[in-house]
Amino acid sequence: MAKKVILAYSGGLDTSVIVRWLTDRGYEVITYTADVGQGEELKEIPSKAKASGAVEAIVEDLKEEFAKEYCLPTLRALALYEGKYPLTASLSRPLISKKLVECAEKFNANYVAHGSTGKGNDQVRFELSVWALKPDIEVLAPVREWEFKSREEEVEYALRHQIPVKATKDKPYSIDKNLWGVSIECGPLEDPWQEPPEDAFEWTQSPQKAPHEPEYIEIEFQKGTPTAINGKTYEKLSQLILDLNAIAGRHGIGRIDMVENRLVGIKSREVYEAPGAMVLYEAYRDLLSLVLDRFTFHYFLSHIPHEYAKVVYEGLWFSPLRQALDAFTKEIAQYVNGKVRLKLYKGHVHVVGRTSPNSLYVEDLATYSEKDAFDHRAGANFTKVFGLPLKVLGRALGR
Ligand code: ARG
Repeated sequence: MAKKVILAYSGGLDTSVIVRWLTDRGYEVITYTADVGQGEELKEIPSKAKASGAVEAIVEDLKEEFAKEYCLPTLRALALYEGKYPLTASLSRPLISKKLVECAEKFNANYVAHGSTGKGNDQVRFELSVWALKPDIEVLAPVREWEFKSREEEVEYALRHQIPVKATKDKPYSIDKNLWGVSIECGPLEDPWQEPPEDAFEWTQSPQKAPHEPEYIEIEFQKGTPTAINGKTYEKLSQLILDLNAIAGRHGIGRIDMVENRLVGIKSREVYEAPGAMVLYEAYRDLLSLVLDRFTFHYFLSHIPHEYAKVVYEGLWFSPLRQALDAFTKEIAQYVNGKVRLKLYKGHVHVVGRTSPNSLYVEDLATYSEKDAFDHRAGANFTKVFGLPLKVLGRALGR
């Protein structure tokens, strides 16, 4: 009986060659392709997969599941890896892995396969996710072990085996896209001193060419979920994010350029575009600061964003730690209701207004006008007690 394998298939050169490579080694290959909002036509995928040797090709629209179950919790955690990266590629891997496992069960396959290399993070994310959900499955990663030393050798193999390859000269970049953003690597970006060429970007306008007038938008949140832009309510969170990508992308918002620490120990220069995500992060953070009491807000800021980002980046999506962190952010998300007004202008997004039924901002307490209701005498005793430790220390030091 043929060994059945479910392959995470993008339709690109690597995964197309993998189909044939595995077939040659006695596997029956079923491809799995997810629409996670990468904005590419997937109609041709099944015929392409089959032309490469697949016995079956599955394509599924996962946009809404991806937005609700993966992007939203990450937004609620305000997670940015190393303070900058909104985890675009990192987030799609556990979802795709979950689907690979489901397909393996459906088709009675003992293997799943992916096209990640041995020096990246994605191999870790795929494999940890798959093993967490189905510990006894075997994961194949042909790119880690096959004979090809270059893209040219792969193309040569593809042509020899009538595997459809795009004739057009591709850009020199390695690109991964989903509705949460684009990640761009390789080519000229490998020199961290060199500014990313304009042709590296797909979803964002160059700030220089962005409109000369600012655009104001309003985003509404209900219980920590963005639900409307400029009064237009969205049934689907995925569509809201896609629309926001277009709006913010026009203003050149969401370009990120960084050197990041990969799991395998190397540093890599990474460029990202996440226009919608970056606007939502700004808006969400601002609303949180309005509705959360100081104790909870400070706890959140010092314990959640960095931890959550590491969990996602390091492939620990299917861990109790991620679920426990989600429970925390879900609890505080209940207070995140209201509207944020943002100004988009030439690569920048600024919150310029916020309002919430859960607002803890009390104008009578904050004001310096005659409406002031704050007990100023309480300030004296408070300051005396709060400052006591430093006074005691100063004395002890003989000051
Ligand atoms: N460095 C990013 C990450 O680890 C981007 C990875 C992009 N993956 C890719 N196959 N191009 O999440």
